[in-house]
Amino acid sequence: MSVVFVRGGAEFDSEICLRGLNLLAHAQMIELPTGSRCGGHGKCGADRLILDPDSQKYVNPPSPIEVHQLSPDELARGMRLACQTFPSADGLRIRATIEWTGEQQSG
Ligand code: FES
Repeated sequence: MSVVFVRGGAEFDSEICLRGLNLLAHAQMIELPTGSRCGGHGKCGADRLILDPDSQKYVNPPSPIEVHQLSPDELARGMRLACQTFPSADGLRIRATIEWTGEQQSG
């Protein structure tokens, strides 16, 4: 099992799911841009993704940073920041759609 990202209609499989690694790091392992501009420090709010409903139970609850950066409506839709979202165990199947659709990434 692994973390699978959807971006621009295509699927990208990280081929790994590790509890100690946030979803930003999973995406970076396969060189998949997420829009991150702060290097995963929870400051830019640009690495937004939407977890599939089935996947929401396999990750940590929203962090205080996410509660600050995202609206209650966004959180209710399963939106998270990739750098703040961690699998709750190794080897889970997690699927998330990356919101960012740009071409450049700086951090
Ligand atoms: S990478 Fe900037 S908030 Fe997550």
